Amino acid sequence: MTAATTRQAAQTSAGSGPEAILALLPLPVLMVDAENRLRYLNGAAEDFFGVSAGTAVGRSLGEMLAKDSPLLTLVEQVRVSGASLTEHGVTIGSPRIGARAVSVDVGPGPHAGEIILSLQQRSIAGKIDRQLNHRHAARSVTAMAAMLAHEIKNPLSGIRGAAQLLEQTAAPNDQELTHLICEEADRIVALVNRMEMFSDQRPIERGPVNIHEVMQHAQRVAMAGFARGVTITERYDPSLPPVLGNRDLLVQVFLNLLKNAAEAVPKEGGELLLSTYYQQGVRMTPHASEARHALPIVASVQDNGLGIPEDLRPHLFDPFVTTKPSGKGLGLALVAKIVGGHGGIVEFESVPRRTVFRVMLPAAPAGKDELR
Ligand SMILES: Nc1ncnc2c1ncn2[C@@H]1O[C@H](COP(=O)(O)OP(=O)(O)OP(=O)(O)O)[C@@H](O)[C@H]1O
Ligand SMILES: [Mg+2]
Repeated sequence: MTAATTRQAAQTSAGSGPEAILALLPLPVLMVDAENRLRYLNGAAEDFFGVSAGTAVGRSLGEMLAKDSPLLTLVEQVRVSGASLTEHGVTIGSPRIGARAVSVDVGPGPHAGEIILSLQQRSIAGKIDRQLNHRHAARSVTAMAAMLAHEIKNPLSGIRGAAQLLEQTAAPNDQELTHLICEEADRIVALVNRMEMFSDQRPIERGPVNIHEVMQHAQRVAMAGFARGVTITERYDPSLPPVLGNRDLLVQVFLNLLKNAAEAVPKEGGELLLSTYYQQGVRMTPHASEARHALPIVASVQDNGLGIPEDLRPHLFDPFVTTKPSGKGLGLALVAKIVGGHGGIVEFESVPRRTVFRVMLPAAPAGKDELR
């Protein structure tokens, strides 16, 4: 029996009772028991996963999803906390259905351990896609960053110290080598420090911030260094209210976006456009514990480079994704982490000669003075 006929059957057998309504609801709805075995799925869920209820009920939810699917983590989170949560931009993938970005509502079911999930393929403002919400990328690197920082920094300072001692008695030729050891050790420490930011789970301290001041500061730094020779145009909406943010972290966001843009443009005729504007209707629920909030302030960085290679796009914000010989592939992962920590969204659009990264941020509550 296909999902459509199952639904028709449900319609005729259950009349217009709640079960028939659920069966016909266009949103995929599932319920799992305390062991994550499927107890129920409606017609839309059958269509979504490409299975029939007859074969799926009794099977484990994990079997229908990729092993490390964030959905399983969300289910566990709700089971432990007992509180419902909504997550936007969750990628659900399996060999059968491919990867799809959805918004998921997860809540406790009628009996202990049972969990009800409903999925929405409709995205906030029709825009949620794989690249929008990258907290998973940041999360996956968190544990590793903490471990690396701990395990690498200590021995490294030992190595550096030893090299400095050697330097005192080394012949001039060998001093070059001890220098090299110190320099390379410093480079590793700098990388580890950058990675350590990922393991910082503390909430970001935020206040009202003038986004234009942030962008102008990043622009000045860029023009003094990595963006020398590139034409930068600004198109700001001066009436924008302050964002609710952390000024220094936001500077880091725009420095990374500007650096990528400057590295992407041609040597001759490189052009960047920095702009800001106000948008209505994009909302986000970042965590179960946090209220839904609007993201009305958009700040974007556009360049006229060749664009983002197609094969890179699905993983662009993951750490260590790079096409540059000396790139670390940490810039965009950091951008995603910081913007996510602001409850915001970063997305991109890219065609040759026009690549735009857009950062959407919440506005500071009215009535507070601007900090900077
Ligand atoms: N504006 C852009 N135009 C074209 N490609 C881009 C752009 N921004 C990012 N990319 C691509 O995304 C990759 C990842 O960017 P990311 O900033 O995370 O790392 P990186 O710039 O390679 O290294 P790092 O920032 O750590 O020095 C880049 O290597 C590049 O291929
Ligand atoms: Mg970069």
